[in-house]
Amino acid sequence: MLDKIKALQDHFVVRGDKYIMRVDFNVPLKDGQVSDDTRIRKSLPAIEYLLEREAIVILLSHLGRPKGKVKPEFSLRPVASHLSSLIQREVFFIPFTEDKEILRGYVKEALPRTVIMLENVRFYPGETQGDESLADMWASLSDFYVNEAFGVSHRKHTSVYHLPLKFPPDKRFAGPLLLKEIQAGRRLLEETSRPYVVITGGAKISDKVKLLKKLLNEADRVLIGGAMATCFLKAQGLNVGKSYYEQDAVEIAEQLLKEYESKISLPIDVVVLLPNNTTATVKVNEIPPEGAAMDVGPETIANWEPEILNAARIFWNGPVGVFEQEPFAKGTQSICSLLASAHQRGTFVLVGGGDTAAAANKFNITDKVSHVSTGGGAMLKFLEAGTLPGIEALYME
Ligand code: 3PG
Repeated sequence: MLDKIKALQDHFVVRGDKYIMRVDFNVPLKDGQVSDDTRIRKSLPAIEYLLEREAIVILLSHLGRPKGKVKPEFSLRPVASHLSSLIQREVFFIPFTEDKEILRGYVKEALPRTVIMLENVRFYPGETQGDESLADMWASLSDFYVNEAFGVSHRKHTSVYHLPLKFPPDKRFAGPLLLKEIQAGRRLLEETSRPYVVITGGAKISDKVKLLKKLLNEADRVLIGGAMATCFLKAQGLNVGKSYYEQDAVEIAEQLLKEYESKISLPIDVVVLLPNNTTATVKVNEIPPEGAAMDVGPETIANWEPEILNAARIFWNGPVGVFEQEPFAKGTQSICSLLASAHQRGTFVLVGGGDTAAAANKFNITDKVSHVSTGGGAMLKFLEAGTLPGIEALYME
């Protein structure tokens, strides 16, 4: 697949040429300020690469899900100022307009080394609808297209899929972050080193059934924690008290257990929250009726430790407990430190998923594993399908 894509860095940049770059600056905002700028920072090398070569960079991104309406709380203006402080140069922010000539007017006079950011692409109803005229409008602003937005490349949206197709194949590129994400995903899929271990958790099974089946087929062991595990415990007929689990998915869990029992490893103990706000660690067959499982317990971690340390390849998606709350953070924190140790011993460790990346950040392992994906849904889709619409739209033939 990589041979079908042209990398931005393999292309000769001419001073003053314009590059429209789709980035994923869908970052959290708090009180009108960017509260986590990881995704922005990860796109800086691509932006700086073009600026160093005196090109003009036109950035396109979405923020949240404004559903085709102009909603000020989803404006990218604060993101533009944050980017400006990171690159220490002005970022010209262009307010929302549907008038092609106005938009072209802003861009026409831009000097080399200018950074322009357009308003949230999802303010246009056509963004999520594959609107060709919207794609034409954006394409008319630029000489080249760059996809640096892995996190949204699973969406067949106008700025991700239809816009690149408006450019000839030799004028649409993959940015360095996109390439890194693809390489990490492909390595996990293509390597044959074993044991291959998957750690999964989070709340939902139903969203991930297809991928879960694929992972269960390919991996040697799948360690399941979080509310997902509760669903499996329920499927085993255990009493899970007041623990949260996805009721509609118990049947799916039952089937998966039948088919893949020898590969699935469930918690043997859990940390429960009790009604008086106290906690207790109990065996999974002793969850009290009034208790809610919130984390995996120390015996589970001890049981998983050799599996993680001896793995050759690991994919982690989904925290194994409610790590945002201190009393229930231990399980996920222990997984993080085991992953860092495994990586130090040579294991390939890929971490993917929004919450999972947040956990990796919180427990400081981002630089201690092979790759932490900027994509949540995108990495899951990539592992399921082996490619994504936004990647296919860059193919040269
Ligand atoms: C993400 O945050 O996962 C990406 O930016 C995609 O956002 P979306 O799920 O709203 O398409």
